[in-house]
Parts: sequence; structure tokens; C-alpha cells
Amino acid sequence: MKINEYTDLINDCLKKAIQLRNPKYHGLYDAMTYSLNAGGKRIRPVLVLEFCRITGNDFKKAIPAACAIEMLHTYSLIHDDLPCMDNDDLRRGRPTNHIVFGECNAVLAGDALLTEAFYQITSSDLEAKIKAETVKVLSGAAGLNGMCGGQYLDTNYDGELSEEDIVTINTLKTGALLKAACMMGVICANGSEEQICAASEFGDNIGRAFQIRDDMLDVIGNREQLGKSTGSDTKDNKINYMSLYGNEYCIELIDKLTEKAKDALRQTFSDTAFLFDLADSLTIRKF
Ligand code: IPE
Ligand code: IPE
Ligand code: MG
Ligand code: MG
Ligand code: MG
Repeated sequence: MKINEYTDLINDCLKKAIQLRNPKYHGLYDAMTYSLNAGGKRIRPVLVLEFCRITGNDFKKAIPAACAIEMLHTYSLIHDDLPCMDNDDLRRGRPTNHIVFGECNAVLAGDALLTEAFYQITSSDLEAKIKAETVKVLSGAAGLNGMCGGQYLDTNYDGELSEEDIVTINTLKTGALLKAACMMGVICANGSEEQICAASEFGDNIGRAFQIRDDMLDVIGNREQLGKSTGSDTKDNKINYMSLYGNEYCIELIDKLTEKAKDALRQTFSDTAFLFDLADSLTIRKF
């Protein structure tokens, strides 16, 4: 499988995934689909599909879980860009959701995408046990002890963050969803506990590396290429990996975490070439 085959499939499925039942609130539908269908790398749904495949099942079985995590991730981006959070004006190469639809509708679009995510799974043809397990993993990763907890720490910093705090923020605000994506793919394929653990370890490590690279790109990246603002993550002297350690050490850490991620899969999965290539490509990504 090539990554483009996955992303084309995901983009196609996402376009059809949300049903508008009453034209009176088409404005909300427009706000949701504006951000959802604006592109994006689709890393999380790709991980869901590939982990389902390497666990020995047809990757198409995991499409509802893949759409769900991309919807939830898109909600997190819409809210992250709001004036009360990072106050950004560009996302996925377009003006941010609140700039186009207003703050109230951007909040609602995020709320609705978060909720639709769970509807994707619960209304699918997946077995009841798989629905329950994927909902448990996704909700656990998105809430207080996952992405929202991380976003809280990130936005309520007091200027005195230690390295341990930064690791916690990274692990929660970004790592949690990437880890959940890997686990959900295995769960959709009825994988074993051992396979879920290995996927979890892989996701956790690439997740942390992913956010360090994000912090780097905020400084060394290019707004046009990234499709989002730069300089945003260190506004008001905010501390992150890049401001704390600089370029060289960040590269070193990213490489270490990526090797650790790959090691986590070696014993348990054999068909890992795609995931190893993906992990490597993320270490030097430009967007
Ligand atoms: C951006 O995520 C926010 C972070 C968690 C770092 P992505 O870099 O995956 O954004 P898209 O989905 O490609 O737009
Ligand atoms: C946000 O981290 C992670 C989310 C949970 C959305 P950032 O604030 O660094 O993400 P970008 O740089 O805006 O994409
Ligand atoms: Mg943020
Ligand atoms: Mg941001
Ligand atoms: Mg960032």
C-alpha cells in the first residue's frame, strides 16, 4: 500500500461521512466540512488503517475508526486556533475556522466534529466489542487524561516549565491521539493484547517525536509550506522543546524516539516496512 492510496481513500470517506438532515443548519455543516476537508496529512487515520492491515485484517474494516479520529483531531485544531487559545489565522492552508465562520460557529463546529467522531464508530457495522473498545481508547485519549489535559497544561503554563512538564504536555496533547490511532487499528482487526501494547508503545514514541518536530517547524518552518502560522508556539515567551533545547538536541531526541518506536514493533509485527518508512519520513517532515 502507498500512503497516497490511504489518504485518497480517507479523503473520499470523510467527504461522505457526515449527513446533513436539515438545511436550516447547513451553516454548521459548512463550518465542519470546511476544516475537515481542507487536507491535512491524515497521519492518524493512516495509522489506524495500516495497523489494522498488519494485524492481519482488511484495512477497510477500520475506515469508521479512521474517519472518527480525523474528525476528533480536526475539532482539536479548530479549538486550538481560537483567539482564547493560540489565536491563529491560518490552518491547512486556509484562514482558520473562526476567521471564516465566527467564534461561536467555530466552537460549535468543533463540538459537532467531536461528537460525530463517536457516531462514526457506534453507527458502523463493526462488532459490538470492537465498537466499545475503540470508543474507550479514543475517548480516553481525547479527554482529561489525554489531549484536553495536555491542552490545559499547554495554555495554562506559568513560565516555569521543567523538562518533565514539557514531556507531559507533548505526551498528552499530541502523543495521546497518535497512540490511540495505532491501538484502534489493532483493535479493529481483533488483535491480541501483545499487539495492542506494541502499537501503543510505537504510537507514544512517534507522537512525542511528532510534537518536537512541530515545535521545530514553528521556528524553522515556512508558513506557506506548513499551511499554518509560524512563531505561534513561543508567543508570550511560551516554552517548548525548541525554545528549551534548540535545533540540534531536538533532532537527536526525535531520532531516539523514532528508533524506540520502531523497536517496539520488531518482536510483535513482521510487515512493518510501511510504518518504519512513515516514522522516518516524519522525522524530517517540512509540513
Ligand atoms: C497538528 O497536527 C497539531 C499537532 C498535534 C502537532 P498535524 O500536523 O497532524 O496537522 P494536520 O492534520 O496535518 O493538519
Ligand atoms: C496543538 O499543538 C495540539 C493539539 C491538540 C491541537 P500546537 O498548538 O503546537 O499545534 P499547531 O502548531 O497549532 O498545529
Ligand atoms: Mg496549541
Ligand atoms: Mg496551535
Ligand atoms: Mg505547534
